[in-house]
Amino acid sequence: MKRIFTNIGELATATGSVAVAGRAQGTLRTLHGAWLLEEDGVIAATGEGTPPEADASVDCGGKLVTAGLVDCHTHLVFGGWREHELAMKLQGRSYLEILAAGGGILSTVRETRKASEDALFEKARGLYLEMLAHGTTAVEIKSGYGLDLETEKKQLRVVRRLKEAFGGVAATFLGAHAFPEGMDHDAYVEQLCTEMIPAIAEEGLADFCDAFCDEGVFTAEQSERVLNAGKRFGMIPKLHADEIREIGGTQVAARVGAISCDHLSETGAEGRKALRDGGVIAVMLPATSFYLKKPYGDFRAMIDAGVPVAVATDMNPGSTPNLSLPFAMTAGCLYGQLTPEEILTAATLNGAAAIGMADTRGTLEPGKQADLVVWDADNLDQLIYRYGTNRAAAVFKKGVRVTGKE
Ligand code: NIG
Ligand code: FE
Repeated sequence: MKRIFTNIGELATATGSVAVAGRAQGTLRTLHGAWLLEEDGVIAATGEGTPPEADASVDCGGKLVTAGLVDCHTHLVFGGWREHELAMKLQGRSYLEILAAGGGILSTVRETRKASEDALFEKARGLYLEMLAHGTTAVEIKSGYGLDLETEKKQLRVVRRLKEAFGGVAATFLGAHAFPEGMDHDAYVEQLCTEMIPAIAEEGLADFCDAFCDEGVFTAEQSERVLNAGKRFGMIPKLHADEIREIGGTQVAARVGAISCDHLSETGAEGRKALRDGGVIAVMLPATSFYLKKPYGDFRAMIDAGVPVAVATDMNPGSTPNLSLPFAMTAGCLYGQLTPEEILTAATLNGAAAIGMADTRGTLEPGKQADLVVWDADNLDQLIYRYGTNRAAAVFKKGVRVTGKE
């Protein structure tokens, strides 16, 4: 079955592979008056001018078409919300103060432990569909609101159900997200490495393993132990680092061969060099910086240092309850000083690479899965510029329309 997408005003896509030192954002290809041919869910060809014949056709109305967005860092499965922390934030209390007062991550842990698997699934499914409606066709989802084996497994089973229902979902075990209340820190790290990781691997519940390496959370040494344990059980390392302070997380990410290192709003030149030398993708989370009123990090210096930059939402109930990747793209453009072309690459190809999906997703090139978005925007600049409302007019996965405005 062949389907032709015609009347594409602007087709914008990243091209090539991701981690090319010196040109870490790759190249963007833009076609005008374009078409895209899909066959059996896969992109067969793209071009300008007269489109080839096909069995079915979709008129894109002269609008912008890009690859489906890839949100490579989210915490989508959780119980409750945390809107009551807004007042505390407005009184000037910091993220770590709220956490120390038993709020923050720990209050979501309490809610997530209480919730049934089905309730978590229904809630996460609703959020997933909202993300899809905003143009995100592949997503990574972390656990980390259980901090005990049963609840972590419950979260990861929800992720597996989303994966089975929709495809394009990557699962990350983030047991090292915070320390359970009242538990000795080293004892928890020991439990993570010797009990939780093996049990989660046994059920094949996680593709990646992550840790929150920062001041007041996991030290560089503890994070390295956790990631190495994950690696021994077949989980690819990722890391939250340098969100609050640089404590050696980038070096850990490089040493363990992490696929990505995320947050990085405080990273300096040495950290960037470690990421470059380690072939680690930098995942920047500008919507988190926006909501925490914190620095955004130096996206430009990352690219100049030869580190590929991806951008993600970090969707979670505390530090950024936003699931629109286009919003994060606009924030990354303005406060990370990237061009629209660079931020599109960050939200598609480099995001896909950060979750091991770049061979099938992230660009509109022949051979890739036909996941694409028709935007209610005439061109890429307009998509970034008209932030704050959903511009995704129609979203397609494997060539089939899955959502969109009528
Ligand atoms: O990525 N930084 C650590 N963890 C999350 C926040 C989770 C929460 O506050 O619930 C993040 O921002
Ligand atoms: Fe996060």
